[in-house]
Amino acid sequence: MAVDIGGIGHSVKRKEDARFIRGRGNYVDDKKLPGMLYLDIARSPYAHAKILKIDTSKALAIPGVAAVITGNDLVPLKLAWMPTLMGDQQMVLPTDTVMYQSQEVAAVVATERYIAADGAAAIEVEYEPLPVIVDPKKALQPDAFVLRPDRKEKSNHIWHWETGDRAGTDEAFRKAEVTVKEEIYIPRIHVSSIETCGIVASFDKVEGQLTVWMTTQAPHAIRTVIALVAGHLGLAEHKIRVISPDIGGGFGGKVPVYPGYVLAIGASVLTGRPVKWVEDRSENIQADSFARDYHITAEVAAKKDGTVEALRVKTIADHGAFDAAANPSKFPAGLFHIITGSYPFKKAFVEVDGAYTNKPPGGIAYRCSFRVTEAAFTIERLMDTLAHKIGKDPADLRLQNFIPPAAFPYQSALGWEYDSGDYGRALRLAMDKVDYAALRKEQLEKRKKGELMGIGISSFTEIVGAGPSKHFDILGIKMFDSCEIRVHPTGKAIVRLGVKSQGQGHETTFGQIVAEELGIPVADIMVEEGDTDTAPYGLGTYASRSTPVAGAATAIAARKIREKGRLIAAHLLEASPDDVEWKDYKYQVKGVPAKSKTMQEVAFAAYTNHPQGMEAGLEAVDYYDPPNLTYPFGSYICVVDIDRGTGEVKIRRFVAVDDCGTVINPMIVEGQVHGGLTMGLAPALYEQITYDEDGNIQGGNFMDYLLPTAMETPNWETERTVTPSPHHPIGAKGIGESATVGAPAAIANAVVDALAHLGVTHIDIPITPWKVQAILKAKGVAE
Ligand code: CDP
Repeated sequence: MAVDIGGIGHSVKRKEDARFIRGRGNYVDDKKLPGMLYLDIARSPYAHAKILKIDTSKALAIPGVAAVITGNDLVPLKLAWMPTLMGDQQMVLPTDTVMYQSQEVAAVVATERYIAADGAAAIEVEYEPLPVIVDPKKALQPDAFVLRPDRKEKSNHIWHWETGDRAGTDEAFRKAEVTVKEEIYIPRIHVSSIETCGIVASFDKVEGQLTVWMTTQAPHAIRTVIALVAGHLGLAEHKIRVISPDIGGGFGGKVPVYPGYVLAIGASVLTGRPVKWVEDRSENIQADSFARDYHITAEVAAKKDGTVEALRVKTIADHGAFDAAANPSKFPAGLFHIITGSYPFKKAFVEVDGAYTNKPPGGIAYRCSFRVTEAAFTIERLMDTLAHKIGKDPADLRLQNFIPPAAFPYQSALGWEYDSGDYGRALRLAMDKVDYAALRKEQLEKRKKGELMGIGISSFTEIVGAGPSKHFDILGIKMFDSCEIRVHPTGKAIVRLGVKSQGQGHETTFGQIVAEELGIPVADIMVEEGDTDTAPYGLGTYASRSTPVAGAATAIAARKIREKGRLIAAHLLEASPDDVEWKDYKYQVKGVPAKSKTMQEVAFAAYTNHPQGMEAGLEAVDYYDPPNLTYPFGSYICVVDIDRGTGEVKIRRFVAVDDCGTVINPMIVEGQVHGGLTMGLAPALYEQITYDEDGNIQGGNFMDYLLPTAMETPNWETERTVTPSPHHPIGAKGIGESATVGAPAAIANAVVDALAHLGVTHIDIPITPWKVQAILKAKGVAE
C-alpha cells in the first residue's frame, strides 16, 4: 500500500466533493442552451379512464406556448408506445385510455418553465372513469377486468417464473420435523433521490445530430435504445450523444426510460430547438418507477434442532400498468433466487407471478441487485420465526446453520456459486461489539418488569456484479463493463469508464485502483464517466456492479499498460524484459533495486524514446466479462425499545458488520454503509406508497411520504471483515447496496423479538407506531 500515491486501502478524500460542497456540481438542470424551450406534462387525475376528448386550444392560445403534444400526434411517428426493459410495452402518451393516476396525458412546450406549466394546466381532457384494480391478488382472479387489452393474453397475469426443485422441496416439507410459514408484504416505496429526473435534448437539424444531457445511470444503453426506437426518424447511433452529467442520486430510479425523456427528444426533433424537461417532486414520486411491492408467502422446513432443510416461496409481484422493471432480461424477478441467503438449504423452490394493476409501472432495483432486498428480508425474517418457534436464540440458530467457510465456492440450492464468505466471523464480531449476551440478560429482566426490548439480527448474503455475459443481458446487450486508460507523456492519466457514478465517489476510487496498479498518484489521475462520445461502451451503474465489473476492467486495463511499460523500462534500463519486474511501484532489474524506472519515466519514453518497432503511446482498454458475480455479506444487530404508550420503536443501537472483500477506500465504504443503512431504516419504520380503492395515491409527496431525516436516524456503528473475492482481480466485491439490503430485516426482527413472548411472529413493514400500538392493545399490554 503506497500512502503517498493514495492507492487501494486509503481513505483518500473524495475528489468530486470539491465541486459538490461548493455548489459547483454540473447537473442536468444547470444546463442552459440558447433558444431552449421547456416542457411540462399534463397528467391524469384518474387511475383508469377512457379519454373521450383532449382540447388543447386554450393551452395553445397562451403566449409563449410553442407546441402541444398528445398521444395521437405520436402515432404517425410510431412513438405512442415504447418498449420496456422487460419486453413489455409502455405508453409514452395514451391515445384512448389512462392506466394510473398521474400518468402522462399531454405535453406542452413553451418559452419558459412556468408558461409550460400554465399550458399543461390549460389542457382540457374529458374522461370516462373505468373500474380500477389496485390489489394484484384481485387482478389475478379469473373474472377480473382485463387492464391491458393491447396484449395477446387476455388476463392481468404478466408472467410466471420459477426456479428450483418443486417436487424435491415438497417432499422435504412432507417429511419435515418442523415447518414455519409467514405471509410477508414488502410495500411499494420510492427511491426519492435528491435530484428528480430530467433531460435537455438538443437536435441539430443541419447535422442530424442529437445531443442529450440526461439523468441516466446507463448512458450507453440509452443511446442504443434511442437508436433502436427512433432510428426510423433518422436518429442513428453515431449521431446520438448521451451525456450523464453529475447525478444527484439514482438508486435504480434513473435506469428506466420515462415518457418525459421521449417527449423532450421528440419535441426537440419537432421544433429544432433544445428542450428541457425536469420533473417536480410530486411527479417524481407519483409517476416514476416504484420499488418492491412483493406479496410473499414463505416457508422453511427444518429439523427439530433447527437445521434448515428446505425453502418454499410463492410471490405475487405487483408491476402496475406496464412491466417496466429494470432487470436483466432473463430474470423477470431479478436475482430473487438469492433468497436461500447464508444457509445451506438442500432443497428450494421459488415461484413468482407478475400482475398488472392500475398503478405506475416499474419494479426497479432500489439500491439492490434486482430484488435482493426482498429476498434478504424474507429469509432473515423466516430464520427468526424458526428460532422463536423452536425456542432457540436467533444468533445460535444462524451460527449453527451458516454455510461454513470451507464450503466456498458454494453451490446454492437455486444454482448460484457463492464466491467466498465467512458468515460466522461477521456475526460473532457484531455480537461482541454489541455485547449480545448482556443484552439478552437485560431483555429477560426487562420482560419481568413488563418493559419491551428487542434484539434483531440480519445475516444477509448479496449477489452483485451483473454479470457474466453468459447469463446476463439487457434487451440483448450483454452485461460486461469497460475501462480505458491513457497515460500522458508527463505521467498523468485519464481513465474513462462505462459505468456512471451518481454520488458513489467513482472519480476517487477508480483513480485509486489505477494508482495502485501503475504507481501514479491518485491526484494525477482524472476519471471521467457518462459521455457516450468519449467513454468505452458499458452497461452503467446499478446493482452495485461498478466495482465488481468496471473495477475489474480498470485493474486489467492498468495491468495491460504495466506490461507494455515493462518492455519500455527494459529498453531504458538496457536489460532483458524477463529481468525486469514491477516492485514497490517501480520497474526494477531483478535483484538490483537501484536500477529502476518509474511509471512517469516510462510514460515519457513511450512518446519520446520507445523501442523501435513498438507502437508509441501508453494506453489500454479492457472490456471485462466477469467469470462470476460477487457475494458480499454482513451481519447486522439492532436493539430496540418499544414505548408501550405510543407504540413508538426507538432504535437504541445498530451495529453493522459488512464484508465487501478488498476495500478500495475505507471512508467511502463507510459512507456507503451509512447511507444504505438509512435507506434500510426508511422502509422498515417509515416509508410506503399506498392507494385507495379508486387508485388515488396516498403518500405522493413529501408531506405524506415519510422520508427519515437526520432526526430519525440512529447512530450507526460500523465494523468490517475482509473476505476477498477469489475471482476479482483486486478481490473486491460491491458495497453500495449491502446496508439497504440488510437493515430492514434487522429492524423488523428486533421489533418482533420484543413482542415474540406475546405470540407475535410477524409485522409487515413499515412498522409504524400505529401498528405497534394496535398489537399492544390487542395483547393487553398497552399503557
Ligand atoms: O455500482 P456502485 O458504484 O453503486 O456500487 P459499488 O461498486 O459497491 O461502489 C460504491 C462505492 O464504494 C464506489 O466508489 C466504490 O469504488 C467503493 N468501493 C470500495 O471502495 N471498495 C469496495 N470493495 C467496494 C466499493
